[in-house]
Amino acid sequence: MKPAFVFGTRPEIIKLAPVIRAFEERGVEPLLIHTGQHYDYEMSSVFLEELELRRIDYHLEVGSGTQAEQTGTAMIKIEKVLMEEKPDVTLVQGDTNTVLAGALASVKLKIPVAHVEAGLRSFDRTMPEEINRILADHASEVLFAPTEEARKNLEREGITENVYVVGNTVVDAVLQNAEIAERKSDVLERFGLKPKEYILLTAHRAENTDSKENLRRLLEILEELPVKVVYPMHPRTRKKLESFGLWERVEAIENLIVTKPLGYLDFLKLQRNAKIVMTDSGGVQEESIILNVPCLTLRYNTERPETVKAGGNVLVGLEKERTLSHVERLLSDEEFYKKMASAPNPFGDGKSGQRIAEILLELYEKGELNVRS
Ligand code: UD1
Ligand code: UDP
Repeated sequence: MKPAFVFGTRPEIIKLAPVIRAFEERGVEPLLIHTGQHYDYEMSSVFLEELELRRIDYHLEVGSGTQAEQTGTAMIKIEKVLMEEKPDVTLVQGDTNTVLAGALASVKLKIPVAHVEAGLRSFDRTMPEEINRILADHASEVLFAPTEEARKNLEREGITENVYVVGNTVVDAVLQNAEIAERKSDVLERFGLKPKEYILLTAHRAENTDSKENLRRLLEILEELPVKVVYPMHPRTRKKLESFGLWERVEAIENLIVTKPLGYLDFLKLQRNAKIVMTDSGGVQEESIILNVPCLTLRYNTERPETVKAGGNVLVGLEKERTLSHVERLLSDEEFYKKMASAPNPFGDGKSGQRIAEILLELYEKGELNVRS
């Protein structure tokens, strides 16, 4: 069997690495196609190195652009590779423009698509990711839903065949790397941080960074946080802060340490040892509940509602009072802190990659890995 993996951004590399490894352990060498949606060393190569992904077969160098430019260029380039390589299945993960491009290019060549992390819904169609998720799910033949809730979302849209609830491969990634990170990374020393004495922040979502008003609201929160904050900043956010003339205001915040994006091992170590995580990232919401760190999500909705229901995540949006009062309570009320920190992980046991490889190999053996007519 010849599976092709199409990926292009940081979270896709992290969450697909366990699936790639699971195929390799079964003697199958997958084809690796990197669109180049992320291209800075800190956004891509560092993860390929740390997660020991062997050579990339095709590097498509799609780069940045408008939604249509990026998706369209990726589609054209992915199609060429798929036509030449004729894989038996194309795997995509998540909700980026790379995912949409890979899924559409593949299904139209009658190469079945397997969507890892299928069925997530924020029910907010103004997010580019929501459009990508819905379309990728509907273009896919095999759907790997991380949770029962995700499966139900698919069912509501009439997708019931070849849907498998397998957990989220992010658990595999955390379990495979957290101990290594603890041993190898000196990130706390580098930034002069003590365990459980700082907040880890990430924010890069279009809805938070594309408007000056929203970035200003984020800064107003950061200016009042009572403990040290470490912020590995996505290049998108940095560019927006600079272009809106807000960079000096960032530099003036005393408690704030801004860094370039970090490699996975450094980031995992920072996350595991943080007192609180604040984020608008999808993957970081998942990882913090896995690592037992309370998470405050800087959004008004989430496609990971399981984390909120489990009690490990609170949606605070960009509401200053709401955010600060949660931070204060987490810092002062031990019971409240413990309750959030001990919320159960809803994303499975860390064997999702193995399950995905097994299921696809079995479907292939039975001749059932085809685009349905
Ligand atoms: C994309 C995904 C988002 C995901 C995120 C993971 C879409 C629509 N969005 O957002 O769901 O959470 O990846 O991090 O696919 N840039 C660089 N260097 C890079 C990559 C990007 O400087 O290596 C800058 C460019 O100015 C670019 C901007 O970041 O225009 C946005 O990049 P893009 O790939 O469009 O989306 P992300 O914000 O990274
Ligand atoms: N991450 C990282 N370094 C950073 C920030 C995030 O390694 O500086 C990892 C994080 O552990 C998680 C993933 O990147 O696994 C999340 O990616 P991102 O927030 O960019 O995307 P999203 O999950 O929102 O799509």
